[in-house]
Amino acid sequence: MHLSLAYRTAESLLTSIPSRWAHSCRVLEQARILAPVLGADAEPVAIAAILHDVGYAASVVDTGQHMIDGARHLSRLGVDPTVCSLVAYHSSSEWEAAELGLSAELATFRRPPSELLDAITYCDLTSGPNGTVLDPVSRLDEVLRRYDADHVVHRAVSAARPALLRMVDRVTKRLADAGRA
Ligand SMILES: [Fe+2]
Repeated sequence: MHLSLAYRTAESLLTSIPSRWAHSCRVLEQARILAPVLGADAEPVAIAAILHDVGYAASVVDTGQHMIDGARHLSRLGVDPTVCSLVAYHSSSEWEAAELGLSAELATFRRPPSELLDAITYCDLTSGPNGTVLDPVSRLDEVLRRYDADHVVHRAVSAARPALLRMVDRVTKRLADAGRA
């Protein structure tokens, strides 16, 4: 699936959730900023960026973990396995799957290379819920405020927070090393 079709696919699934669509468009913009340091990986990361939250679309919800549901949907559409893996594992997915008892379902997708997982997570965590650019600490704080303390997302993001911030730091360093910070 090329980026233009990925964009239209995501748009058709997410425009009924305007904030998710605005957020997804920002995640794509962040992926475009990363493109110079990603080289040949820029294309799959950009495609995963615009598609990463399609699992929130009502027609796509299955297990209730949006990363897995989105990846399954895209896999059924024949989307490239690397893109499906990036969608499956982005951000706090591994922690959320553990909380939900869905680790085996997640493991049906191959864990993406760390550099690509860092990249999609960086793009997600620097994009606010309504499409603004946010620093990752504020972004994670916003997620923790949005979900009650006993909610699975709150627990997963609390546990994942240090690792997620390290992922963002690695990408920030790559950008700085490339003179693009
Ligand atoms: Fe996201």
